[in-house]
Amino acid sequence: MRIDIVSLFPEFVDQCAGFGVVGRARARGLVELHGWNPRDHAEGNYRKVDDRTFGGGPGMVMLVEPLRRCLVAMRQADPAPAHVVYLSPQGRRLDQARVRELAALPRLALLCGRYEGIDERLVQAEVDEELSIGDYVLSGGELAAAVVVDAVVRLQEGALNDADSALQDSFEDGLLDCPHYSHPVEHAYGTVPEVLRSGNHAAIARWRRQQALGRTWQRRPDLLAGRELSRADRALLDAWRLERGDGEGAGDD
Ligand SMILES: C[S@@+](CC[C@H](N)C(=O)[O-])C[C@H]1O[C@@H](n2cnc3c(N)ncnc32)[C@H](O)[C@@H]1O
Repeated sequence: MRIDIVSLFPEFVDQCAGFGVVGRARARGLVELHGWNPRDHAEGNYRKVDDRTFGGGPGMVMLVEPLRRCLVAMRQADPAPAHVVYLSPQGRRLDQARVRELAALPRLALLCGRYEGIDERLVQAEVDEELSIGDYVLSGGELAAAVVVDAVVRLQEGALNDADSALQDSFEDGLLDCPHYSHPVEHAYGTVPEVLRSGNHAAIARWRRQQALGRTWQRRPDLLAGRELSRADRALLDAWRLERGDGEGAGDD
């Protein structure tokens, strides 16, 4: 996969993507990252990339032309068509399902705004999709782009040492992940649940499923809303709630 970063600070994203799973995936050649700076495509001694917003008011806006020329150069660098994403608080909120779809694309271009954002005409003409990483405002799109890069790259085949671990992560099947434990078994903060040490794989799988259902119900009920649970899942969730003295079963919601 190829990812192009269009930003006034492309080296910021490059550095964020230099560690751990993402750094390793790049070293293994599973993904290529290329930075593009619109300032390199701006004219004049000052290489101006921003100007005042029409209509008055505070803040500057990123200019159309340096960005347009930058995108032309980016497209010319590789014949593969790029899916252009503008990181924006006004975009669709990123979730794991969309991350999976993006991870399957051959080429992704991440456009990072600064100041008040990008001149709307460039967005309308060049952007395929706007994505937000949450309902808050960052000072620039680079952190958001780094988030997208990390989430997308770890799903590339061969990026994780154990590919199955991604399938068990939160949101993969619409639930949060179960809790995890490691050594030592006994600690002042508590004991590792007995079932996880039993070697009974069926019982462990059932426990994990129940914990995932219970956590999701407790912490993110929105993920369960409108979802038809199987009889087995409903029974597990009912038992989880009863154990915690919740009293009512999942069927009573
Ligand atoms: C200060 S923000 C501009 C905010 C814009 N005036 C608005 O209120 O919608 C500057 C840049 O940061 C990035 N950004 C800020 N918040 C973001 C978010 N939640 N998700 C993705 N990108 C974000 C965008 O690229 C944006 O162009």
